[in-house]
Amino acid sequence: MSDWLVIAARFALYGDLALLFGVPLFALYGLRGEERHHARLLPLRPLAGTLAITGIALSAIGFVAMAAAMAGTGLLQVESDTLTMLLAQTSVGTAFLVRMAALAFCLFAGVLLSRHPVAALSAISVAAGVGLSSLAWSGHGAATEGGAGMVHLGADILHLLAAGAWVGALFALLLLALRGSPKDDAGQVRTLHRALDGFAGVGTVIVGLIVVTGLANGLVIVGIANVMSAAAGLWGQLMLAKIVLFLGMLAMAAANRFRLTPSLERAIERRDHAQALAFLRRSLAVETVMAIMILGLVAWLSTLEPLNGG
Ligand code: HEM
Repeated sequence: MSDWLVIAARFALYGDLALLFGVPLFALYGLRGEERHHARLLPLRPLAGTLAITGIALSAIGFVAMAAAMAGTGLLQVESDTLTMLLAQTSVGTAFLVRMAALAFCLFAGVLLSRHPVAALSAISVAAGVGLSSLAWSGHGAATEGGAGMVHLGADILHLLAAGAWVGALFALLLLALRGSPKDDAGQVRTLHRALDGFAGVGTVIVGLIVVTGLANGLVIVGIANVMSAAAGLWGQLMLAKIVLFLGMLAMAAANRFRLTPSLERAIERRDHAQALAFLRRSLAVETVMAIMILGLVAWLSTLEPLNGG
């Protein structure tokens, strides 16, 4: 039971921290001046507050669930000594405390959003980035010793941040598309078109980072010689399913960039953007669902033994 709670809490935490890191980051490079103030474009303040509070609750639940799984007890039977020992004497405990402090800081910075949007968005994104990176200590990311261990940890943290930037941007673009009105208010749809166009370059860097750090991560965990035997185990099969979903996301992203975004531009000029907007909404929604499925797969596979059939 507690193993599944560990996986569920980890999945929800990946999603929550990816959004808390990626949405403010998107608002910094994808929106301009006044647009960052408009709650009808992106409700940044309530979103940041809700995600920070949810992140604190999920981190606490995940930590107690992990302690229960390690002690082989139920959630409510976890002894305070076990929790104190984990907090004071393990890197997972230190990472948890750093994450809680970073999330508390996000709550504070969220209050400043309406008066100092750029400074507050930057502060939230950096602090949430620290929170997201801290998850590397409770997966395989921190399990390798020595010099290779530093490379693995670095690659895993960059992988988490690149994934967070992608998931955050997807969610923000989907919200912009859902809030754009099919009939009037071309202004809002123009903002969406410009943000999509602007994301093309950032998206290429994110995908490049994800592939390079993902392959580095995989090679350190499995090792070239064991790739085939790892593929035969549950970890390997979940990783293959993840890569298939990644290729699906790549295909949707290419369709958005080379077909749907240019056709939205033409539709705006023709003052008839309803259908183009509907196609984009659907494509962004499908891509977002694939990203959520990847986070679910990763939450599960990061608890398994990559070799020995796990
Ligand atoms: C070519 C594509 C990709 C490859 C080769 C790849 C590979 C990997 C590997 C080997 C791991 C470590 C698994 C473990 O700790 O057991 C990992 C972790 C992870 N991946 Fe990917 N990945 C790819 C794409 C993605 C995408 C598209 C996303 C999200 C949108 C993503 C999100 C994550 C996350 C959140 C982790 C967990 C890191 C942790 O908790 O330490 N990956 N990936």
